[in-house]
Amino acid sequence: MKRVLLIIGGGIAAYKCLDLIRRLGERGIAVRCVMTQAAQAFITPLAVGAISNEPVATDLFDLDAEREIGHIRMAREADLVVVAPATADLLARMAQGHANDLATAVLLATRAPVLAAPAMNPAMWSHPATQRNVRQLKTDGVSFIGPNAGEMAEKGEAGVGRMAEVAELVARIESLLDGAGRGDGGFGFLNVAAVRSARASLAGRHVLVTSGPTHEPIDPVRYIANRSSGKQGHAIAAAARRLGARVTLVSGPVQLPDPEGVEVRHVQTAREMLEAAEAALPADLAVFAAAVADWRVAAPGGGKIKKAAGAPPPSLELVENPDILRTIAKRGPRRPALVIGFAAETQNVVEYAKAKRKAKGVDWMVANDVSEKSGVFGAERTRVHLITAEGVEDWPDMGKAEVADALLRRAAAYLAERRESV
Ligand code: C5P
Repeated sequence: MKRVLLIIGGGIAAYKCLDLIRRLGERGIAVRCVMTQAAQAFITPLAVGAISNEPVATDLFDLDAEREIGHIRMAREADLVVVAPATADLLARMAQGHANDLATAVLLATRAPVLAAPAMNPAMWSHPATQRNVRQLKTDGVSFIGPNAGEMAEKGEAGVGRMAEVAELVARIESLLDGAGRGDGGFGFLNVAAVRSARASLAGRHVLVTSGPTHEPIDPVRYIANRSSGKQGHAIAAAARRLGARVTLVSGPVQLPDPEGVEVRHVQTAREMLEAAEAALPADLAVFAAAVADWRVAAPGGGKIKKAAGAPPPSLELVENPDILRTIAKRGPRRPALVIGFAAETQNVVEYAKAKRKAKGVDWMVANDVSEKSGVFGAERTRVHLITAEGVEDWPDMGKAEVADALLRRAAAYLAERRESV
């Protein structure tokens, strides 16, 4: 039986935890609860205890409870720790590593993956301090769900800050528990121990990332481009840097600042991108997140093409661009040990990506749906599938930074394993 340790924070969304405990119980998942002092102002330990059928822990200094279970044992026995609602204050204390109450002491002592479901007023959520804490916690391996946009408890307030719904929480918890049980680590990137080793293993590595669109000139003022924002590629470069790697980012034209501590090569065209990527080799890991134009204009005009009255519109002859990913994946001895491609598709997402993985000689392919209905282009969130030689993993809905962190930790663990087995 899988065990979830649910840490209930002090927010109005705490009432959703009663339903959450029941739904997890229906799925055969045992839930033990810790309530912060503030949580007890919203729901009672009596109600939580009755629904979870377990004693509820509230106090670090309750000697009887410590003798009975003990906070270290509680931390150790959980397969997953869920913090819901994760209030701004609780996130701040987690980010700082405080241990001055039972909830934070357990969070510091656990080696199980941690999932936080933030809930707070939108102004508190978007405050730079909260966002800084969230970034820190993500780097530490904490996984997040929500907050969602919508009405707040306060009358007339709306925005991003609502706790994820119970059904979403249940789905994410089940998928995390599935991964935690798998020998290969499954979603092991969320495991704190794996995160620590992953961080160590990207130190001393060189990571090459391509990002953004390319601009293919038609004449000196016009060009062919696409809707790529570069957010995913830039997030990958930043995540690699956070894990200690030396990073070269080859970026097409984007409206994003250069990630800190990363060597950035700015290019316009696919051919320039290939040249810069090749010049950056050797690399241990290469991630091709750029949306490279498949074609360029065969003979771009030297001067601006003029519109003449009565003359037919000019026709553009296109020629194929080099495939940067394929070229580097088939580079022989200079091939990076791990090559990851992205496949943006509007239909048959996984099938096309599987075929591409083979055709281009790529190790892993990250596939996502960029159809108009998915709204992925330029967005902060995405839903991807990771395709490896072993099979397909459907990742839950995540922020692009979260996908980047998860992917890079997986890559780091893979590289570390390879090094051990050589
Ligand atoms: O064939 P498609 O463009 O869908 O392939 C996507 C993957 O290939 C991405 O990882 C992209 O960065 C890479 N690619 C490339 N050079 C191209 C075309 C695609 O590196 N000319």
